[in-house]
Amino acid sequence: MTVKKITWKSFVPSCYKNEENPISNDPKKPIIKQNSFQRVSLSDISNPSTTISMDDLSISLVGSNLHVFTLLELRTITQSFSSSNFIGEGGFGPVHKGFIDDKMRPGLEAQPLAVKLLDLDGCQGHREWLTEVIFLGQLRHSHLVKLIGYCYENDQRLLVYEYMPRGSLENHLFRKYGACLPWCARMKIAVGAAKGLAFLHETEKPVIYRDFKASNILLDSDYTAKLSDFGLAKDGPEGDNTHVSTRVMGTHGYAAPEYIMTGHLTSMSDVYSFGVVLLELITGRRSMDKARPSREQNLVEWARPKLNDPRKLELIVDPRLEGQYSVIGAQKAAALAYACLSHHPKTRPTMSNVVKTLEAIQEFNDTLTESFVYIVSADFDKVCGEQKEEPKKKSRHQNYRDNGHKRRMRSPRSPTVHSDAYPNKNGINGMRSQRPNGVKAN
Ligand SMILES: Nc1ncnc2c1ncn2[C@@H]1O[C@H](COP(=O)(O)OP(=O)(O)OP(=O)(O)O)[C@@H](O)[C@H]1O
Ligand SMILES: [Mg+2]
Repeated sequence: MTVKKITWKSFVPSCYKNEENPISNDPKKPIIKQNSFQRVSLSDISNPSTTISMDDLSISLVGSNLHVFTLLELRTITQSFSSSNFIGEGGFGPVHKGFIDDKMRPGLEAQPLAVKLLDLDGCQGHREWLTEVIFLGQLRHSHLVKLIGYCYENDQRLLVYEYMPRGSLENHLFRKYGACLPWCARMKIAVGAAKGLAFLHETEKPVIYRDFKASNILLDSDYTAKLSDFGLAKDGPEGDNTHVSTRVMGTHGYAAPEYIMTGHLTSMSDVYSFGVVLLELITGRRSMDKARPSREQNLVEWARPKLNDPRKLELIVDPRLEGQYSVIGAQKAAALAYACLSHHPKTRPTMSNVVKTLEAIQEFNDTLTESFVYIVSADFDKVCGEQKEEPKKKSRHQNYRDNGHKRRMRSPRSPTVHSDAYPNKNGINGMRSQRPNGVKAN
């Protein structure tokens, strides 16, 4: 596959009203067909030969489908970022729900939105904001959260997304109270998130996501998973290069060991992180949990030896499922997680193979019939109904108020972290386990 590069000028000719279109007037330059979409990559704008400053780029729209909002508009739709509209907060800053009516913008239908506001005292900044606008502004897929627009005023940087009614997978999987996420919903989420990653890896200019984790997987009302947060995303290697060299950044507990050791980033680093999330889905445990006994704190180390042994596997499947899962499906999912977590990146499956395997896993219906009573909520029934053949049973899980935003989430348990240092030969200890709310991008 040949990868054509274009310049920022060619992508947004309207920024250069006084210049002639360099593409159409230069016979030596390839003519870019109007309907052939070519993504601007980060390297296009960080190339020293370009005269475009970051500010020029930010002020202009990256892709005509993004709306530029004023701060006043976003204040209005979030009721001045009121606490009653607060959804959660990560390294970038607080996230508020807003509602836009169909009068605010021609062409933008009335809908709820999620507005992310850069915390000016945090460690993230313009660079992360811009990375998000560049990647999510151009990439569109049913398993990527939709960036509706942004705001850029003085120091203020905001991002406006489609609102995801069920919040993040992290909120659902690890909450102490409320409904347990059923097996079929977990597998549906795994398939959706895998499709999102597969799309990124296989698009014309591949993208490495670099921050795959439960808090970055958002859920639609029917548990369709969508990836959010592209602040750490990188363009994949080009030409004969096998990897991209970067500073080590990501989230402790999810980042691939070879990436931490060498700083060499490949799409297989994302596959490893996917394996960690799949393990979280199987076990209901966090990738890092300091509250557990020391041998159980690192999920991968604790679970890996048990993944290929059916008798041991039974002991690590999430006890909150109370046996309501496909045993064959769990065995296959565990084997898949094992392959994704391989120490040898080249032997890990590609994300499109992961998708195929997970789709096959969804077909297994051998859910154990337990003697206790079990009810599936109407919500989950919609998700799981097609796979469940047994008649519904009465349940212990009666509280299915399943809104992911019932609780205010202030401090995420697995925040994105970075290392100021370059690749660390001492391995995972070289990565900071915590960071003061933010990331640094390189
Ligand atoms: N588009 C959205 N729709 C609904 N809720 C959202 C949306 N985007 C983010 N959220 C909520 O806001 C919370 C904070 O999200 P954010 O991505 O800023 O931080 P995080 O993923 O928790 O941490 P990190 O900074 O390490 O990525 C999420 O847990 C999620 O519940
Ligand atoms: Mg996030």
